[in-house]
Amino acid sequence: MRQAATALLPATPEGIGRAAALLREGGLVAFPTETVYGLGGDARSDMAVARIFEAKGRPRFNPLIAHLPDVAAARAVADFDNRAERLASAFWPGPLTLVLPLRAGAGVSPLVTAGHDTVAVRVPAHPVAQALLAAFGGPLAAPSANPSGRVSPTRPGHVLDGLGGRIDAVLDGGACAVGVESTIVGLAGGVARLLRPGGIPAEALEACLGGSLAPPDAGPERPNAPGQLESHYAPEARLRLGVTAPAPGEVWVGFGPRCAGAALNLSEAGDPVEAAARLFHLLREADRLAGPAGRIAFAPVPERGLGRAINDRLRRAAAPRP
Ligand code: TXA
Ligand code: MG
Repeated sequence: MRQAATALLPATPEGIGRAAALLREGGLVAFPTETVYGLGGDARSDMAVARIFEAKGRPRFNPLIAHLPDVAAARAVADFDNRAERLASAFWPGPLTLVLPLRAGAGVSPLVTAGHDTVAVRVPAHPVAQALLAAFGGPLAAPSANPSGRVSPTRPGHVLDGLGGRIDAVLDGGACAVGVESTIVGLAGGVARLLRPGGIPAEALEACLGGSLAPPDAGPERPNAPGQLESHYAPEARLRLGVTAPAPGEVWVGFGPRCAGAALNLSEAGDPVEAAARLFHLLREADRLAGPAGRIAFAPVPERGLGRAINDRLRRAAAPRP
């Protein structure tokens, strides 16, 4: 295919125009969002979406998020009920994804929804993502811009490390501010479910909805079997979690002020927002320090606010590999 070299494009009007032109030709462009870098392709094109799966080495059955410039554009793709409208007006643009009934005539490739009658929609807040969506003028399918199962990218260099030579371009928006993926709420099955903890704390969503979010069930909203801890976000090294006293030879990643001696610290101040923003970068750093067949130990992170998303990602990073 033609993307032998991956272009690093500046986030200028020219760079964004070039990225939009590549997308209109069916190309793949990684772009910054406030959460992580997404690997964008035209969500209406079977070919472009198939190329996303191919570039990532991603299993076909795992559906993708459609990125849209605003709630009006999202309503053209998905059916919004009152709860969806309330969440969208409170948290969009921002790190929230809604899984809703697919709208008749939405025009989204069935590869995006993996053949389900639901679709995941998100309006990103990052100004470069917004500018790209405006210049492109259509929905962008965008999973995180990493090879399937590996650590998500929060900097353009991370994208090039994993996908360089496999995609057309990366739009350079610097480091991502939130650092963990969007929170996914499923509303298609009647009950509101937390399908993935992420950049917006579940507590904030529950306050907006006036009720608690149910856990995912085994239905079509959840491609994975319940309780199955899928290996994901996997570094090369082995990971141990909740470690207050690391073993000799382990690279210790601390959280908070009581981790003197840690090689790296997610947040010296014990701030989960800062920890989320640094998580994937430090996972890569720790992997580099640990070396081949190395071991990494993470200090405990409280299961509150963004801590829930951080712990979810760490548990998957530590899960047994297939
Ligand atoms: O922050 C984010 O959400 C980033 C940025 C790029 O927007 N994207 C991202 O995409 O994390 P990805 O593909 O790595 O994760 C999307 C998740 C997958 O776990 C997928 O199973 C779920 O969304 N998903 C997508 N469509 C779905 C659907 N119709 N029903 C249930 N889950 C769905
Ligand atoms: Mg991902």
